[in-house]
Amino acid sequence: MPHSACPRSFRIFACLAASVLSLATLASAVLADGSGDPKSVSKDENGKYVDAQGNPTFHVSEDGTWDWYTYSGYRRYHSDCHVCHGPNGDGSSYAPALKDSLQKLSYADFASTIAGGRVNVTTSQNNVMPAFGNNPNVMCYLDDIFVYLRARSDGALDRVRPEKKEAKTQAYSKAEDSCMGAK
Ligand code: HEC
Repeated sequence: MPHSACPRSFRIFACLAASVLSLATLASAVLADGSGDPKSVSKDENGKYVDAQGNPTFHVSEDGTWDWYTYSGYRRYHSDCHVCHGPNGDGSSYAPALKDSLQKLSYADFASTIAGGRVNVTTSQNNVMPAFGNNPNVMCYLDDIFVYLRARSDGALDRVRPEKKEAKTQAYSKAEDSCMGAK
């Protein structure tokens, strides 16, 4: 008789219920932790590290060398997001601390909020997150900004510019040029 997690009997319902429950537990564990464990498992030719889920993540070597994306994200964040979200992802009276948001936001939610923006206007507040979907200075660097904020969210990177960093790869420059529409 082949092994099956759910035997063919009335117990199938109990078994299915148990699977649904464990899925729900898994989902809430992931939700509680944003994109999950930030530990990097591999690196691509652009110099981008990813975690076990395939989400972009940061990487810092024992000698304090940061990955290129964390450095690049630091710069992009401070040119396009800082004005509302405060320096270093720390938040302001106007917009939330993104270093905290990443504790619960998945990569997909992060990306869609930036592309589409968000309006939260009531009689007592007028909070508007602009849509950046048509802004290549932001959209071409979405992963960079995500990786930087993930490093802040995890507590791996302090309120500082990551000075010591890996070199920008040729593959990264090529992808950047094509995204920015350069010849
Ligand atoms: C003009 C001000 C402004 C700028 C510039 C801005 N944001 Fe926002 N952002 C906001 C506001 C306000 C909110 C909260 C909206 C709400 O209350 O729902 C927000 C919300 C967000 C959220 C959702 C946070 C959460 O906890 O759910 C993300 C993610 C985000 N912004 C990312 C960015 C990134 C990345 C940039 C830079 C590329 C950026 N924002 C630039 C004003 C701004």
